[in-house]
Amino acid sequence: MIGENHRLARSPKRAWMLGATLIRDPLAACRLRARFGAVPVLKRRQTATMLGMKQRQLGRNGPMASAQGLGCMGMSIFYGQPDDASSIATIHRALDLGINMIVTSDAYGNGANESLLGQALKGRRDQAVVCTKFGNLALAGGGDTGFTGGDPRHVAIACDRSLKRLGVDVIDLYALHRVDPLVPIEDTVGAMQRLVTQGKVRHLGLSEAGASTIERAYRVHPLVSLETEYSLWSRDIEGDILTTCRKLGMAIMAYSPLGRGFLTGTIKTLDALGEKDGRRNMPRFKPENIDKNAALLERIEAMARDQGVTTGQLALAWVHAQGDDVFPIPGTKRVTHLAQNAAAFDLALTPQEVQALGDLFPKNVASGTRYPEPAMKGLGI
Ligand SMILES: NC(=O)c1ccc[n+]([C@@H]2O[C@H](COP(=O)([O-])OP(=O)(O)OC[C@H]3O[C@@H](n4cnc5c(N)ncnc54)[C@H](OP(=O)(O)O)[C@@H]3O)[C@@H](O)[C@H]2O)c1
Repeated sequence: MIGENHRLARSPKRAWMLGATLIRDPLAACRLRARFGAVPVLKRRQTATMLGMKQRQLGRNGPMASAQGLGCMGMSIFYGQPDDASSIATIHRALDLGINMIVTSDAYGNGANESLLGQALKGRRDQAVVCTKFGNLALAGGGDTGFTGGDPRHVAIACDRSLKRLGVDVIDLYALHRVDPLVPIEDTVGAMQRLVTQGKVRHLGLSEAGASTIERAYRVHPLVSLETEYSLWSRDIEGDILTTCRKLGMAIMAYSPLGRGFLTGTIKTLDALGEKDGRRNMPRFKPENIDKNAALLERIEAMARDQGVTTGQLALAWVHAQGDDVFPIPGTKRVTHLAQNAAAFDLALTPQEVQALGDLFPKNVASGTRYPEPAMKGLGI
């Protein structure tokens, strides 16, 4: 189909007709550009008209949100040098495209990422589903409230601080970033529920929790989502976690759906990463693993070439294909990458292609764990 469109676009008259179609289907314009480069007749018009990312209900009890979100972590930490101007432009373009689920945490740069998002949302708050998290004190540099991350007293303080940094009256989705092993989950979620009652927060979620914790938390308050790593090379949730979320009607917010950039095929050696890039400390990017992992990419790259799409788009399309309850939240601080990622939403993979991709990356195929050993202990509890 896309191949036909591309052929159409080569004739000026047909290109105009295609342009008219794409004005009605703005994401298709975006999609074509990602696959084939600029289609000249569309170039000026698509910017003003790309408003098309599909919206779905986030979980049984959640808000309407874009089927693909935008992760903001890398705008402030972990993936190279921050570039605030480019990041804010990316958030604005996301909102233009209807990508309204914007995801941050108070741990990203110890509040810096929330402040950046707050800056970007000035005058546009109503267009966004603002999602933030709390309770990952290890990533936040230890925390300064005097309480552990899931302590009800910490929850209350953290929320007020997030509201202030984000410059909003209410947070649309407030999630526990990491389960606190020192505090019963009922107490933490009980404190989160009080925030809902107080009107500071609309919906609640968890991140990286284990199945029994999810069940216990849900009994306190109907949670809408679990934010967790899910991608071709991180399929750990397939099993009791995914089953539990589906039983409870909770959406999966699939983080690092591009494998922290690895699945785009642009990071095959450590030379591709800056000296201070946080991925240098991640096991899968370590010298002993990165070559083995890079070898896994060869066949997906060949599939992407055959389809005329990028490797990252194919990886993202696979996540989308896992179900309407799976909302990938790829992260980028670049408008160009955002457009490519948005276009991946409309890649309709056949069941055979989904299966073939899954077969290339069976569960646990990647060399190296998702996080370094100490951080692994905080997952799935
Ligand atoms: N709950 C949790 O514990 C947790 C943990 C990790 C992440 N998250 C959330 O999930 C979000 C997404 O995950 P992530 O950022 O870790 O990983 P990701 O989305 O898998 O990958 C992000 C990396 O890929 C690059 N990238 C994005 N689009 C690209 C494209 N089209 N072509 C080439 N490179 C591309 C980005 O660089 P550029 O900026 O240069 O595009 C960045 O380096 C985060 O922002 C964060 O909000 C949550």
